[in-house]
Amino acid sequence: MNVPLLALDDGALADRNDFRRDVLAGLGRYPRAIPAKYLYDSRGSALFDAICELPEYYPTRTETAILRDCADDIARLAGPGCALVEYGSGSSVKTRLLLDAMVDLHAYVPIDISRQHLDATAVRLRHDYDGLRVDPVSGDYMKLDALPPAINGARRIGFFPGSTIGNLTPEEAILFLRRARRLLRADGALVLGVDLRKDPQRLHAAYNDAAGVTAQFTLNLLRRMNRELDANFDLSAFVHDAFYNEAEGRIEIYFRSLRHQEVRVAGRRFVFAEGERVHTEYSYKYDEAGIGALAGKGGFSIERSWTDPARLFAVVFLK
Ligand SMILES: C[S@@+](CC[C@H](N)C(=O)[O-])C[C@H]1O[C@@H](n2cnc3c(N)ncnc32)[C@H](O)[C@@H]1O
Repeated sequence: MNVPLLALDDGALADRNDFRRDVLAGLGRYPRAIPAKYLYDSRGSALFDAICELPEYYPTRTETAILRDCADDIARLAGPGCALVEYGSGSSVKTRLLLDAMVDLHAYVPIDISRQHLDATAVRLRHDYDGLRVDPVSGDYMKLDALPPAINGARRIGFFPGSTIGNLTPEEAILFLRRARRLLRADGALVLGVDLRKDPQRLHAAYNDAAGVTAQFTLNLLRRMNRELDANFDLSAFVHDAFYNEAEGRIEIYFRSLRHQEVRVAGRRFVFAEGERVHTEYSYKYDEAGIGALAGKGGFSIERSWTDPARLFAVVFLK
């Protein structure tokens, strides 16, 4: 395999091995699927930031507006001297509203699988927040067993915005919450951003933007496989395919083969039929009762919740 493994440090090498294993397993079974976390290499993270700016993509600006209004309430509920632990932190843009509001923050711990993007974000935050302790953790939050010892002794407030919880199946979301509850400890809390069920057309538009940025984001996974797994996907022979499945209450995203074709990935050959889809992402939408039920199964209860006037999105404070 013609991949420059020697140029990678141990962390990046382990990431590459996980990627190869999960892609080969996901393409080797039917229906085919690749875990959504692999959409986020450096380019994927930058494309996600571009998606957040799209006119059709209401979640980011709606959640930002809610947080702008409730950041002081969150800071009061959290109390002074906390550690803020963010799951899937990306560019930590909305986080700044909490960093500005929280009193005597002990540390900020951003967790993200997109290693280089996480490191670059940490550098920017240290520059912009003089004196703030920023302790990034690079890895999969579904597997994380410990947080940096530097936050021992501080109340741990988790933050999981962006409706990233919607990328998990409800079963995975419960496992995530149970793990978060252990890591955040009995006196901790979790601030969760959740996209609400709404008009299917609005949902459809949000994941099929006119500028095609969401399509680039999905197809970036093929580029990543070409680069990191010595694959030879023809990017013009696959398309982004996203729709709302109303019965399941979720957006489903795939890449779809435009023709019958054979592709090499990490030394293996895979045949794709014309029209065959490979699943890359879900985005589950919840109603308010569903959020409460999910929180309860994950070991939390809702202390406060906030929404926007059109009830597109919810932010909840779970204890
Ligand atoms: C939908 S984006 C949200 C980014 C940001 N929090 C926001 O609200 O705009 C999801 C983020 O979670 C990260 N991510 C996805 N799956 C992950 C996983 N299993 N473990 C750690 N980070 C993950 C991605 O790299 C990405 O930065």
